[in-house]
Amino acid sequence: MKDGLRIALPKGRLGKKACDILSKIGYGCDEMLEESRKLVFYDQEKGNTYFLVKPSDVATYVEYGAADIGFVGRDILLENRSDVFELCDLGIGKCRICVAGERDFPYHEKKHLKVATIFPNISRDFFLSTGKTVDIISLHGSIEIAPLVKLSDVIVDIVETGATLKENNLTVLEEIFAISARYIANKVSYTYKNREICKIHELLEKVRGEGND
Ligand code: PRP
Repeated sequence: MKDGLRIALPKGRLGKKACDILSKIGYGCDEMLEESRKLVFYDQEKGNTYFLVKPSDVATYVEYGAADIGFVGRDILLENRSDVFELCDLGIGKCRICVAGERDFPYHEKKHLKVATIFPNISRDFFLSTGKTVDIISLHGSIEIAPLVKLSDVIVDIVETGATLKENNLTVLEEIFAISARYIANKVSYTYKNREICKIHELLEKVRGEGND
């Protein structure tokens, strides 16, 4: 078995886009595209190993050196305060982190808010900067329900098409920032496997913006 790169990829919608980009630059792994429950894939030709992990765990695998490189949403890097090298913007997985709530909620008048979110750190930092005080309620998904059942006043969540908010009678009250997926590297691997990591970086820069999203 060759000692190639260990690459952490997110499962789900971002993962599919990441696989397409890797194929474009000659780092594809066809077996990953097949429907299965398999999570680790080995590419005999290049000697690289691919891990399919939960999107929110990609940066952890890379930070601790279990993976040399990874593709991850910037929201995860900011929320986890990950200690990794962020090498480039992949131009995929573009969305926004927003404060959202019911249309008639007097958001701008409120000095104190109950906020449900999967991003407690991002939310706390943001509201601190606006001067509002907050109670953070951490959830793991389907956050849109929280204001509807009065668990919270507002939510801080990802908005991509806006369809989930619309279908749950919620609206964006304020945008926090735009995010997209990043190519990241472990800091030690970046030194020891520099040639291969930088080669992928160059190839990624070349295909960026070629309608990958
Ligand atoms: C994310 C996010 C929103 C939705 C936004 O959820 O948390 O619910 O996508 O996308 P839209 O603006 O295109 O509707 P995801 O599908 O990842 O699942 P989750 O609710 O379990 O987190």
